Amino acid sequence: MTAHPAGPLSGDVRVPGDKSISHRAIMLSALAVGQTRIAGLLEGEDVMRTAAAMRALGARLTRDAPGQWRVDGVGVGGLAEPDDVLDMGNSGTAARLLTGLLATHPVFAVVTGDASLRRRPMARATEPLAQTGARFAMREGGRLPLAIAGTGEALPLDHRMTVASAQVKSAILLAGLNARGTTRVEEPVPTRDHTENMLRHFGAELTITRTDDGRVIALAGQPELRAADIAVPGDPSSAAFPLVAALLAPGSRLTVRGVGLNPLRTGLFDVLRSMGARLSVENSRCEGGEPVGDVTAEAGTLTPADTAAGIVPSMIDEFPILAVACAVASGTSRLRGLGELRVKESDRLAGTAALLTANGVACQIEGDDLVVHGAGGAPPGGGEVASHMDHRLAMSALVLGSVCRAPVLVDDTAFIETSFPGFVPLMASLGCRFT
Ligand code: S3P
Repeated sequence: MTAHPAGPLSGDVRVPGDKSISHRAIMLSALAVGQTRIAGLLEGEDVMRTAAAMRALGARLTRDAPGQWRVDGVGVGGLAEPDDVLDMGNSGTAARLLTGLLATHPVFAVVTGDASLRRRPMARATEPLAQTGARFAMREGGRLPLAIAGTGEALPLDHRMTVASAQVKSAILLAGLNARGTTRVEEPVPTRDHTENMLRHFGAELTITRTDDGRVIALAGQPELRAADIAVPGDPSSAAFPLVAALLAPGSRLTVRGVGLNPLRTGLFDVLRSMGARLSVENSRCEGGEPVGDVTAEAGTLTPADTAAGIVPSMIDEFPILAVACAVASGTSRLRGLGELRVKESDRLAGTAALLTANGVACQIEGDDLVVHGAGGAPPGGGEVASHMDHRLAMSALVLGSVCRAPVLVDDTAFIETSFPGFVPLMASLGCRFT
C-alpha cells in the first residue's frame, strides 16, 4: 500500500476498543460465574484468537452485534483441557496471559503462534510461572510452540518483576487466581494496570501497596469471580495514529472520541505536549472503571523530544509513531531506554529506524536509545518500508507517507487487522490518501 502526501486532515471519529482491555475482558469473564455482557470489544485478529482459545477451554461466547458480546464463564479453576493446539496468531498478550491461566489448571495444552510470535521470548513468563508447580517445555531460546502441563495444586507466587512487562505481571496474577493463598507481585516500574482494575471489577480481593521501590500487588487466591458487564474504551494506542497525523499535517484539526486515558497508557500524549503539540481533552469521564475522554489534535510546529527511560512502560507501543512525529519536529530528539522494543511483534527499534532512514530522515540507534534528526517540516519520503508482520510499523509508515513530500510504500499492511480493523477507511475519511 502507498500513502500519498495528504492535505489537512479533519473529522470526528472513534477508534476500535482497547486491545489490552478486550483480551482481559474475555479471559476474566470466561472465569466468572454467570453471564457478562461486553460492549465495544475490539474485534481485531489478536482478540479473536483469545476468544477462540477461551471457547476451546470451555467458556461460551456469543457475538450479538459488532463489538457486543456475551460470555458465560466456567468459574475460577473450571477451564477444560483443550482438544487441540491453541494458536494465538500474532498476539504476545494472548499467548502470555493464557499461559498464566493454564499454568494453574490441571490440563495439558500446547500454545503456538505465527512466525512473528514464534520468535518472541516466552521464558520471561514461564520462568516465574514454573514456581507454581506447572511444567513447561518449549523450543530453544524460550520460543513457541510451548507445551504446558498445568497444576491443580498451585502454589501462590511471590515475584519481583525483573522486566517492566504488564504481560508478565498479568500472567502471574491470572495464575494466582487458581492458587491457594496470596499471590504477590512487586513492580519497581509501574506498567498498565488493566488486569488489576478488571480483577477488582469481577470481585477479586486485590490490594496495591505503594513502597519506596514501586508497588506491591497482592491477590487472594481462588476468589469467586462474578459476572460484571464491561464497556471497553477506545484504544489510545490506536487513537495515536490519527491524532499524530493531524498534529503533523498542516491545517489539520480532528477529534477522536471515547479514548481510554488510563494514566499508565498516556505517556505519548504527555511527550507530545512537551513538544508543543496542541492536544486537548474534553468530556473526561469514567467508563467501566477506566478514565475516558474526547481528544482533539490541531496541527502546529513541534520541538524535539527528549524522553527518559522511566516513561517507556506508559507508551511502550507508541514509539514508532512518536518517532514519526520527531521526524517532522525541528531539531534532534532522543528517545531513551527502548530495549524492550526489540522483542515486540518485530524488532521495532530497528524497524522504526529503518522506516525513517528509507524516507530521508537521519536517525541512529545508540545503545538502547533512538536519535532522530527532525526535518523541521515535511520529510522527503519516497521510500519503501518493510513492516515485518508488525501492525504498528505498518500504520506508522502510512502516517509518515501522509506527511512527507513524496509517497511512502509499505510492503504488507495485512497485520493492521490484528489491532485496528478499519484503519485504512478511517484514515481515508479524515483525508489520507492510501492506494
Ligand atoms: C500489553 C503490554 C505491553 C504491550 C502490548 C500489550 C498488555 O507488552 O506492548 O501491546 O496488554 O499487557 P509488555 O507488557 O510485554 O511490554
